[in-house]
Amino acid sequence: MKVLVIGAGNMGLTYAEGMSKSKLLKKKNIMVLDKSEEKLEELHQISHFDAFSELKDCVPEADIIFIAVKPYHAEGVFKAIKPLVNSQQILVSIMAGVTIASIEDITGLTKIVRAMPNLPAQIGKGLTSYVISQDVSRIEMLTVESLLDTTGKSIQVSNEQFIDASTGISGSGPAYVFYFMQSMMEAAMQMGFSKEDSTILVRQTFTGAVELFNQSNLSPNSWMERVASKGGTTRAALDSMEDNNVNELIKDAAFAAFNRAVELGKEY
Ligand SMILES: NC(=O)c1ccc[n+]([C@@H]2O[C@H](COP(=O)([O-])OP(=O)(O)OC[C@H]3O[C@@H](n4cnc5c(N)ncnc54)[C@H](OP(=O)(O)O)[C@@H]3O)[C@@H](O)[C@H]2O)c1
Repeated sequence: MKVLVIGAGNMGLTYAEGMSKSKLLKKKNIMVLDKSEEKLEELHQISHFDAFSELKDCVPEADIIFIAVKPYHAEGVFKAIKPLVNSQQILVSIMAGVTIASIEDITGLTKIVRAMPNLPAQIGKGLTSYVISQDVSRIEMLTVESLLDTTGKSIQVSNEQFIDASTGISGSGPAYVFYFMQSMMEAAMQMGFSKEDSTILVRQTFTGAVELFNQSNLSPNSWMERVASKGGTTRAALDSMEDNNVNELIKDAAFAAFNRAVELGKEY
């Protein structure tokens, strides 16, 4: 099996490197294409991927083609690969807002996987949600899933609306966590801690809480109840959040991202 990654940016390289580390594919079977000569030279020197600048030299050879350019470059890439592809090839798009119908329309391909990764994919802790078009067989789906899983975990969703929805949860979600961390660091500094100590306090608190959650079957609500005792400090903080409707505000934020993903989808 040969995989081609078009677009050697943050995400494209994350997948190429994930696949190569996983040993699912030999390095010689991972092809990477970018339009930047400088990047290609670097790729060849450092990562030893087969690096290409011309679509005609790599598209026909690929069994699976990952497209990882920015969404506004998608149409140009689709038009350029159309004369080079064959109906057995699987196209995996990780581009936000680019629909399966638009990919099929322009490329003529019918085996499409639309995936939405998130930033922690870069350290192998990502979450990719994906949906497949009708023509993707079960074996092909499992093959693509194993490639997606080289950057973390994946979940298959039943339709593209859930790709937009997962954008609002896992796609944009890391930023919500950073937002919360930033607020807690600012509170720590206002209490008099140095920036360094504030960072340690917050980092270890998040790491510890996530580990506790990971190592149990308890829901976040159950954990909150375990930490908060009546009349205690944690209860005071949780009551303050409830009084200020923080729960609803966080849900509003997730829906704002979901709605924006839907809007972007109409533009492409
Ligand atoms: N970053 C994330 O966390 C994240 C999460 C979910 C989904 N995504 C999706 O992933 C995709 C890639 O994002 P990214 O952050 O990796 O972008 P990026 O770092 O800008 O990478 C895109 C790469 O593709 C190259 N490129 C542009 N047009 C090309 C063409 N016609 N042929 C070959 N290469 C071309 C770009 O070159 P130039 O720089 O010279 O234009 C750049 O090297 C986006 O569609 C985004 O929606 C990203």
